[in-house]
Amino acid sequence: PINQGNPKVLKARDLPSVVQYIESSACENVMLMLGAGVSTSAGIPDFRSPETGLYSNLQRLNLPHPEAVFEINFFRRNPVPFYTLAHELYPGKFRPTITHSFIRLLAEKKLLHTCFTQNIDTLERRAGVPDEKIIEAHGSFATQRCIDCQRPYDDAKMKDHIKRKAIAKCDSCQGFIKPDIVFFGEGLPSAFARAVPNLRKADLLIVIGTSLTVHPFASLTGMVDESCPRVLINMERVGDFGSRTDDVILLGKCDEIVLELCQSLDWEKDLNRLWELT
Ligand code: APR
Repeated sequence: PINQGNPKVLKARDLPSVVQYIESSACENVMLMLGAGVSTSAGIPDFRSPETGLYSNLQRLNLPHPEAVFEINFFRRNPVPFYTLAHELYPGKFRPTITHSFIRLLAEKKLLHTCFTQNIDTLERRAGVPDEKIIEAHGSFATQRCIDCQRPYDDAKMKDHIKRKAIAKCDSCQGFIKPDIVFFGEGLPSAFARAVPNLRKADLLIVIGTSLTVHPFASLTGMVDESCPRVLINMERVGDFGSRTDDVILLGKCDEIVLELCQSLDWEKDLNRLWELT
């Protein structure tokens, strides 16, 4: 176990024990849980950070409450706020971060079992993390369909509409077209439900850049075995981290902590090689 099992006061920077564990033969299946904090250094705001978070900066959209921009019933009545935001957030404008390259490096080292992400920016994919290792729990902009008849809609036509801030409508029933992003009130992709049981196989859970406020995603942290150490890399302490003896809390900017971790693992050269490719 990462803390040799003895309960210890959690030092905010217990990095050496994480390094030692990753280098040990006990660490074979690493599971990741990512949130918007992983992409903030790419220029994509997170949701809830005070001041900089998206939910504190949507006044221009005149929403009844910030989350309405991602609520299916609000979208049905008024798709304009979402399309305005989609225009600003649309994938392709942003470069993956050092943290995204770290995830690819874990895969290259044959340590990555699954990367569960809440992010819709597809930066894990763009960083070169193998597709079959990624679970986009809240969907992504990759595909889209009519919210009424569910008919899939052409990718290029959708891209063009979002670029022009024009609302795409279904060719057959005139319903509004929405990217396959999971809105509040919608179910998560079946791929998520299928992947959840694998958490029992985790030898190490690393949670990066999330407030752990949205369920069911946040509940994944409780699904790893008691014997599986959990590492939080975040600006602030979240969830039930600290409740287990093997919890390690590394507070700070994820890119800086990831770089420090790779330096201690002697993986810095590999990390930079992968990041240069993005
Ligand atoms: N390094 C480390 N942590 C960071 C960084 C950073 N550079 N930037 C932000 N954070 C932390 C914040 O302190 C916060 O705890 O990342 C977390 C981001 O939390 P949220 O903004 O709530 O984002 P997230 O947890 O991904 O939101 C979950 O909410 O609106 C829904 O569907 C949406 O997937 C999203 C879900």
